[in-house]
Amino acid sequence: MKNIFVVQVGVGGVGRELVGQLLGVRGALAARYGLRLEYLALADSAGALASGFPLSAETIHAAMRAKAAGGSLAASPEGRAIQSWDVLLPDGPCVVVDVSAAAGHEAPLARAVAAGHRVVLANKKPLSAAWADFVALTRTGATRYETTAGAGLPVVSTLQGLLDSGDALVRVEAAMSGTLGYLCAELEAGAPLSAAVRAAHRLGYTEPDPRDDLSGADVARKALILARTCGLPWELGDVPAEPWFPPELAAVSRDEFMGRLEELDAPFAARVAESRAQGAALRYVATVTPEGARVGLRAVPAEHPLASLRGPDNLFSFTTTRYAEQPLVVRGPGAGQAVTAAGVLADVVATAREM
Ligand SMILES: NC(=O)c1ccc[n+]([C@@H]2O[C@H](COP(=O)([O-])OP(=O)(O)OC[C@H]3O[C@@H](n4cnc5c(N)ncnc54)[C@H](OP(=O)(O)O)[C@@H]3O)[C@@H](O)[C@H]2O)c1
Repeated sequence: MKNIFVVQVGVGGVGRELVGQLLGVRGALAARYGLRLEYLALADSAGALASGFPLSAETIHAAMRAKAAGGSLAASPEGRAIQSWDVLLPDGPCVVVDVSAAAGHEAPLARAVAAGHRVVLANKKPLSAAWADFVALTRTGATRYETTAGAGLPVVSTLQGLLDSGDALVRVEAAMSGTLGYLCAELEAGAPLSAAVRAAHRLGYTEPDPRDDLSGADVARKALILARTCGLPWELGDVPAEPWFPPELAAVSRDEFMGRLEELDAPFAARVAESRAQGAALRYVATVTPEGARVGLRAVPAEHPLASLRGPDNLFSFTTTRYAEQPLVVRGPGAGQAVTAAGVLADVVATAREM
C-alpha cells in the first residue's frame, strides 16, 4: 500500500464536500490501486488542522462539523493558527489541493511545484494571474485544474487531449456561467432584467453582490485559462468582458445598484427583441480563437449548439482542425458543490496514480 499525502487549502462549500467524498472513496481506491490517500493538513483562511502526522477521519469529520457550524480550524483540538498554508507542506512529495477562492497563491504554489509537490486547483486565480505563473504551475504537468472551467464537466482534459494528439484550435465558444445562463433564459421568457436579477439574487444563484457575476470577470478568467491551455500567452486584460451594467453603476453601493436595476430593463428588452427578430438566441458567450478572445452577450443563430441551451447549464463547443464541420460539444451542469468536488477528487486520484 502506498500512502499519498494530501494538503487541502480551503474548507468552504466545495472543500468540505471534497473531504467527505475523499474519505468516502479511500477504501475503494486502496482496493483498486493500492493507494491510500491521507490528509496531512487542512487549512482555512486563518488556521490549519495539522499535527505532522496523517489526520484521523474522526478528527477531520469533527473539524468539518465545526466549520459548517461557523467555527475555525485553529479552534479545533488539533488546530493552530498559521500565517500561510505553505508552512504545512512536508519534505516529501504531496498533493496540494487549492479549493479556496483566494488571490496570491500562485507564488507559493509555484514553489511547491519546484519542490516536487503536485497541485490540484479549483481556484481559478492562480492560473489567471500572470502568464509566467501559469507556465510555472503547468509546464511540467504537475498541476491539474479540470474544475476551473465547467466544474465537473470534462472541459480542460478534452481540450488537452485534442491538442496533445496533434489537433489545432480553431475556436472555442462557451456559455460557462450558470448565473448568466439563468438570466438569459429569464430574459427570453419575457422577464425584465431587474426582476430576473432580483430573483437570481433571492435564490442564491448570484454572488452576494450580483455585479460580481454581471461584470463577466469570472467568465473572462475561465476563458483565459482555456486560451492559456492552448499555449496562448495572454493576460487577463487580453480577454475583455462586456459587463451587464454601465460604468456609472460600477461605483455605487450594492443597495443602490439593486435599487437602480430598472434602468437596465429597456436596453435589455431591446436586445432580446433584436435577437428574436433575427431568429437568434441571446447568450453570454466566451469566444477564444488563436487571434483573440472576447466575452459578452451575443445573438447566436438558432442552429448553433449554444442556442439550444436553456437555463444554468454550461456548454463548450470546440471547433478544431479535426472537428471542423461539427464541433465537439461538452454540455451539462457547470457548477455545484458535489460535482465540483467530484471533479477535484478525480484530479487528485489521477495525480496520486502517477506518483
Ligand atoms: N461552487 C462551485 O460550483 C464551483 C465550481 C467550480 C469552481 N469553484 C471554485 O472552488 C473554490 C471554492 O469554492 P467554495 O464555494 O467552496 O468557496 P467558499 O465556500 O468561499 O470557501 C473558500 C474556502 O477557502 C478558504 N480560504 C480563503 N482564503 C484562504 C487562504 N488565504 N488560505 C487558506 N484558505 C483560504 C476559506 O476560509 P474560511 O473558511 O476561513 O473563510 C474557505 O474555507 C473557488 O475558487 C471557486 O471559484 C466552485
